[in-house]
Amino acid sequence: MSKFVIKCLLVVSILVPLFSLKANEFSDTKKTIDIRKIAMQGLWMRIKRISPYVELKENVEYNKELASNDADEILRLLDKTKDLWPDNSNLSGKGFTNATPAVWALPEYFSKLYSDAELSATELKQAIKSDDIDKTALAMCNLGKACGTCHASFRRLLTSQLANEVNGWSGKYIQNCN
Ligand code: HEC
Repeated sequence: MSKFVIKCLLVVSILVPLFSLKANEFSDTKKTIDIRKIAMQGLWMRIKRISPYVELKENVEYNKELASNDADEILRLLDKTKDLWPDNSNLSGKGFTNATPAVWALPEYFSKLYSDAELSATELKQAIKSDDIDKTALAMCNLGKACGTCHASFRRLLTSQLANEVNGWSGKYIQNCN
């Protein structure tokens, strides 16, 4: 074999694994982004179920036990999503995520809002457990504020989502919040 061919083989044998490593890493990143979006949707689903209960709207199929489960699940999902923001998932420019680059530029503020949400979710859980109506409503308002503030600062909003957002994910989850 000529030296040239050997060199070419050498280059290929180094570059191919390098590229496939990159490709693997990229598909892992995309998976992470998908998981965090799905988990966020899960949060929203629980919020939608729990808010009529907090507002004391009669629903024979939804009771204290289910509300407690949902509050638990909200806590679990918040905890789960906390670690799903690796640096390489800062890809809003390429349209893979609606998380703005601010997530990675202001990590302390981002994690403070996570803590706020977790604190409110813990209070929500406890207030439901002790049947404290006022505290349940207050915790729900505070939770909405934490989710909403984080979205306002760190999530790019698509025009197509605006109609959904008005009293939706952006934070006012029950009536009578200040
Ligand atoms: C500390 C910040 C933060 C908190 C707290 C937070 N979110 Fe999010 N949320 C985000 C970011 C950032 C995105 C964009 C994620 C992406 O596109 O990769 C997002 C996306 C979403 C989405 C859209 C998911 C999709 O399919 O694109 C929903 C729905 C949502 N969040 C609901 C909630 C609810 C409900 C809560 C509170 C119980 C909450 N979030 C708490 C930061 C937060």
